[in-house]
Amino acid sequence: MQGGPAKVKLASVVLAAGQGTRMKSTLPKVLHPLFAKPMVQYVVETLLALKPEKTIIVTGVNGEMIRDTLRNFPVSFAVQKEPKGTGDALKSAIQKLRGFTGTLLVVSGDTPLIKAATLQAFLKLHRKNRNDLSLISFIAGGAHSYGRIVREGNKLNAIVEDKDADEEQKKIPEVNSGIYAIEAPLLKLLNKISINRAKGEYYLTDIVGIAVGTGCRAGAFLLGNENELTGINTRRDLYRAVHYLRDEIASGFMDNGVTFIDKTSVFVHPESLIGTETIIYPNVHIEGRTFIGSGCIVYPNSRIIDSTIGNNVIIKDSTVIESSVINEGASIGPFAHLRPGSVIGKQAKIGNFVEVKKSVIGNGTKASHLSYLGDAEIGEQVNIGAGTITCNYDGKIKHKTLIEDNVFIGSDTQLVAPVRIGKGAYVGAGSTITKDVPPFDLAISRTAQKNIEKWALKRQSKLGKGGRADRKK
Ligand code: UD1
Ligand code: CA
Repeated sequence: MQGGPAKVKLASVVLAAGQGTRMKSTLPKVLHPLFAKPMVQYVVETLLALKPEKTIIVTGVNGEMIRDTLRNFPVSFAVQKEPKGTGDALKSAIQKLRGFTGTLLVVSGDTPLIKAATLQAFLKLHRKNRNDLSLISFIAGGAHSYGRIVREGNKLNAIVEDKDADEEQKKIPEVNSGIYAIEAPLLKLLNKISINRAKGEYYLTDIVGIAVGTGCRAGAFLLGNENELTGINTRRDLYRAVHYLRDEIASGFMDNGVTFIDKTSVFVHPESLIGTETIIYPNVHIEGRTFIGSGCIVYPNSRIIDSTIGNNVIIKDSTVIESSVINEGASIGPFAHLRPGSVIGKQAKIGNFVEVKKSVIGNGTKASHLSYLGDAEIGEQVNIGAGTITCNYDGKIKHKTLIEDNVFIGSDTQLVAPVRIGKGAYVGAGSTITKDVPPFDLAISRTAQKNIEKWALKRQSKLGKGGRADRKK
């Protein structure tokens, strides 16, 4: 190649083989989720944004779950045979780095909130200073167990782990984030790390003192902030990280024109989107890949999962919506449940205590109260009376109910599927429909009403003569 700066080579390693003892969990620590996404996936996605030549994930012997979680990412895996510390973990990746000559970015799998921009700024400083080894440091507040950055004057000297720090060192506010840039030739220094007797581990942090001692250029850069660089060791740490992320996400939506009545109680998945002028009430959970249009209102206590919601839709209180599509201007709830595969038409209304499953509801159709609509295809401008039930299951398989446009279904109707109600037809209230209804017919299956004249008065006089009233005496 002629002219221009030579492209700097970058590879990345994620350390994810620790046991995560402090989580008290059978799930590997790095698979604990923030908004249903495992923390290690955040780290991997951020690293891949930097386009490294290769990314190696170090897992333990029982790392199948981690490998499985990351199977669709362009990463490779190295195995650390025993969890003998972070220094040993990085050593386990060396074989996969054979022949690599550039900068190695090393990140912990338990630091999910790190931003790509911070890593980029870090690599820039690392290169500008022509360092052999750099790390990101930050100022930690409150109680913590981060490694302390020991400097001589301004110069980075070593990292002392919390457990090994003396009283004076414990007071150092600058701590290690566990994110390092290491020039490939320095990897050989990993062999010089000796075991920490107290913990029986090889600390990667010791590489700093060793590098400085052998005359290498090393530096610690104060970048990002404590929230972004939080290492998650305990469920308390995880809770803090989730709430920080929740706040970041909600604030971002507010900047884009979304109103939150109480953002502290609303959880919006990082991959969900909300349009401008939409109002979100308290205790709303928006999960997975959910897209909510503009001008919508989501009232309290609702949960929306993997769904697409058009503009000007109203979701009333305590509604659950799963893998469904709701078109413009529709109104859902209160207390409605849209189960997977439901498609609700424009201006349609699904009201109080209505459950819809795998059904298409046409434009302008209303099911306002207490119904179950499963495996149904319902046309436009249909009225579904209160208490209507599609009997879709015969004990073995599910059958479809087809209701064409402009049909009127009276209250308390059972539609025994498979069945078709032709367009414009009426079904009388209280009917059990087992046969197709042709277009524009009236179907009614209840027994005709019979009024027995003055029955109550006759009963009364009967009771008077030796009836129950007399016997009591
Ligand atoms: C580590 C640093 C500490 C730093 C902190 C930042 C060391 C010795 N200490 O402490 O200076 O302030 O991170 O969050 O490095 N891992 C393995 N194999 C192992 C042990 C750990 O792969 O044998 C992985 C873990 O899965 C984890 C990462 O390395 O993702 C860090 O390990 P962890 O035990 O969390 O280190 P900390 O005690 O937090
Ligand atoms: Ca940690």
